[in-house]
Amino acid sequence: MVGMTSPRELLDLARALATETGEMIEAARASRPTVKHTKSSSIDPVTEVDIAAERHLRERLAALRPDDAVLGEEGDATTGTSGITWVLDPIDGTVNYLYGIPHYSVSVAAVSGGADPVRWTMEAGAVHEAATGVLYSAARGLGATKQAPGRDPERLEPRPGTELARTLLGTGFQYIAERRALQGAVAARLLPQVRDIRRLGSCALDLCYVADGQLDAYYEHGLNAWDFAAGALIAREAGVRVEGWDGEPPDPTFLVAALPETFDALHRALDEAGARTMWGSPTETV
Ligand code: IPD
Ligand code: CA
Ligand code: CA
Repeated sequence: MVGMTSPRELLDLARALATETGEMIEAARASRPTVKHTKSSSIDPVTEVDIAAERHLRERLAALRPDDAVLGEEGDATTGTSGITWVLDPIDGTVNYLYGIPHYSVSVAAVSGGADPVRWTMEAGAVHEAATGVLYSAARGLGATKQAPGRDPERLEPRPGTELARTLLGTGFQYIAERRALQGAVAARLLPQVRDIRRLGSCALDLCYVADGQLDAYYEHGLNAWDFAAGALIAREAGVRVEGWDGEPPDPTFLVAALPETFDALHRALDEAGARTMWGSPTETV
């Protein structure tokens, strides 16, 4: 195994790749991208820009870090010898991107210990909010920052949590109708217990928003590792608890993120709302 490189160096590259790809997808919006094909269901779109953006990320990584593995949404997983895996979502929030709602991002993470989110260690991650140019990023043990275009990076400091009744809660829904019905039923049971619910449409940004105070908490079932890899590290480094059930690491079945003061009450409310067993088995994936 070739040397793995420090979180700082991985952070610099994650930031550069997320920013240049974010600028690329933003420029491509002008030509009104269309759906190239669909994935998990007929409402799960992939545009030509999703594909071009992932190709760009993979080409850059192949040139700069040929020994690393890659797990990306729009291509086959590749293996490497360095111990580092890059986890890529070239556009997180493709439905927003397609409709011209300015809320989508590029998510780039570097992890060690393989491509399984239950076992990996998140080393560095960057999420570029393409429509505003804001870059969120973090490296393991080095804290998280937010950087607006032309400004210096600002550190995202841990802040006090809220009680559940005042929590602005983010969530999201899968593209499969039967799953959405169950997810909607859980959200309906939570709605009277919190300040309000937002479905913004980019998991990576939802997690950065919890880190940054634009949401108080977030949960979702049925994510993919590339949706949350970078955002989970950014939130954690900003003092947010990002977990699965009962202190387990988040995984593609379930993720909940909240400030420490809010976390236990939200975890309990989710459990009581049926979120643990709504798909029949706590560990079932799509
Ligand atoms: C989706 C977004 C959305 C979440 C979905 C994801 P995509 O990713 O993160 O917010 O609710 O679960 O699939 O398809 O836009 O990359
Ligand atoms: Ca995604
Ligand atoms: Ca995507």
